Amino acid sequence: MCSMRVVVWCALIFVIHVGFSVSNAELSPTFYSQTCPLLYNTVFGVIFGASLTDNRIGASLVRLHFHDCFVQGCDGSILLNNTATIESEQDAIPNKNSIRGLDVVNNIKAAVEKICPATVSCADILAIAAEVGSVLGGGPSWPVPLGRRDSLTANQTLANRNLPAPFFTLDQLKAAFAVQGLNTTDLVALSGAHTFGRAHCGTFISRLYNFNNTGNPDPTLNTTYLLTLRETCPQNATVDNLTNLDLTTPDRLDNKYYSNLQQLNGLLQSDQELFSTPGADTISLVNSFSSSQSVFFSNFAASMIKMGNIGVLEGTKGEIRLQCNFVNGDSSGLGSVASKDPKDNLLAQSK
Ligand code: HEM
Ligand SMILES: *[C@@H]1O[C@H](CO)[C@@H](O)[C@H](O)[C@H]1NC(C)=O
Ligand SMILES: *[C@@H]1O[C@H](CO)[C@@H](O)[C@H](O)[C@H]1NC(C)=O
Ligand SMILES: *[C@@H]1O[C@H](CO)[C@@H](O)[C@H](O)[C@H]1NC(C)=O
Ligand SMILES: *[C@@H]1O[C@H](CO)[C@@H](O)[C@H](O)[C@H]1NC(C)=O
Ligand SMILES: *[C@@H]1O[C@H](CO)[C@@H](O)[C@H](O)[C@H]1NC(C)=O
Ligand SMILES: *[C@@H]1O[C@H](CO)[C@@H](O)[C@H](O)[C@H]1NC(C)=O
Ligand SMILES: *[C@@H]1O[C@H](CO)[C@@H](O)[C@H](O)[C@H]1NC(C)=O
Repeated sequence: MCSMRVVVWCALIFVIHVGFSVSNAELSPTFYSQTCPLLYNTVFGVIFGASLTDNRIGASLVRLHFHDCFVQGCDGSILLNNTATIESEQDAIPNKNSIRGLDVVNNIKAAVEKICPATVSCADILAIAAEVGSVLGGGPSWPVPLGRRDSLTANQTLANRNLPAPFFTLDQLKAAFAVQGLNTTDLVALSGAHTFGRAHCGTFISRLYNFNNTGNPDPTLNTTYLLTLRETCPQNATVDNLTNLDLTTPDRLDNKYYSNLQQLNGLLQSDQELFSTPGADTISLVNSFSSSQSVFFSNFAASMIKMGNIGVLEGTKGEIRLQCNFVNGDSSGLGSVASKDPKDNLLAQSK
């Protein structure tokens, strides 16, 4: 407590403290501990509920955070739907018919709005959801730095440009991560997220029949695995089937991804490149993560936190969206959130 004697001193500390946290603009795991103490449990509860009928949801939410962060920063931009002014990132090539979990994010947001209205950003919800996805898959837990704000824009062009493709070579993968301030250790650790979830045949089929226009399969693909994958993904198929990214433990966030790579059982070219590129500095990292799950877990958690810091909006930048699919007040989107002015709602209902 500030007695009269030290009130000036206390005020000074307050100013320094607030000034520091605003100007330095640092995320903090305790950001909502006063304004929304039940936040984590609420997010966890909704995702746990969804996981009872969807064993893939944790993986899908981890990927959503990644695809948010690589496009104008971790600002919830991936959640914005098409409107008169927004060209949705959801329609970018790496996202279309592929990202999942948007409905679960909306359910989380609705539950959070009930207990702490207009307080928690959609970008922060994505960051927490990714950590919960890791935990539910048996992966590491970490204190999630919070305090991100939501963007007023999306950028589909940037989503197409920044998100790495499954046919990237190691040099291209490194470059795509370097643009985001992530290094080779981050690349290898974060690629470990392919320890769970699924991929469409279309993302790796070129490895099965005509790799790099050689008329042959990818020589760095295990021949037993090749035969299995050819059954799931026949040539000229009419259906783009899904298969597990990790053939060993498909729904677990563990270090089996790395031992798969050692046995040439990586699904995507971008996975196998980490181990099979001759002389690459990533090979020793794969070996290290393969031989110790705890080393992998601590690197994965550290790199997830690092990724979660990319280009965040803080302080008074951006906004706290009320509905994650739309910028506040953008009623041009179908199903946009109800206005706070009852007159506007009557107007909307009569349309
Ligand atoms: C290194 C470059 C990366 C490339 C080229 C890449 C590419 C892909 C592709 C093509 C898929 C399958 C999508 C589909 O067919 O629908 C996929 C799935 C997935 N990716 Fe990545 N990814 C990369 C890095 C990451 C990172 C950094 C994370 C997270 C930290 C991540 C998490 C996931 C997860 C969890 C899935 C499964 C999602 C689900 O089942 O819904 N990926 N990725
Ligand atoms: C998307 O980002 C690019 C590169 O920063 C920029 O040139 C372009 O104007 C942006 N588009 C939108 C719609 O913001
Ligand atoms: C990558 O960055 C982390 C810090 O974020 C550092 O500990 C690690 O040594 C770096 N790795 C490489 C290969 O530079
Ligand atoms: C694909 O083929 C080209 C030559 O046609 C070669 O330079 C390149 O290294 C090959 N890529 C892979 C991943 O093998
Ligand atoms: C797939 O289609 C191509 C031409 O469209 C054809 O040459 C090839 O024989 C077909 N392969 C199979 C297995 O049907
Ligand atoms: C994959 O899709 C094809 C049709 O394109 C289908 O015949 C086949 O049974 C599917 N395989 C699996 C494992 O789902
Ligand atoms: C191919 O994978 C199997 C396990 O799925 C493994 O026993 C075998 O050693 C692998 N082959 C190579 C060349 O790594
Ligand atoms: C936003 O778009 C997605 C498809 O990308 C759709 O499933 C969802 O219903 C839309 N949300 C709203 C609130 O209209």
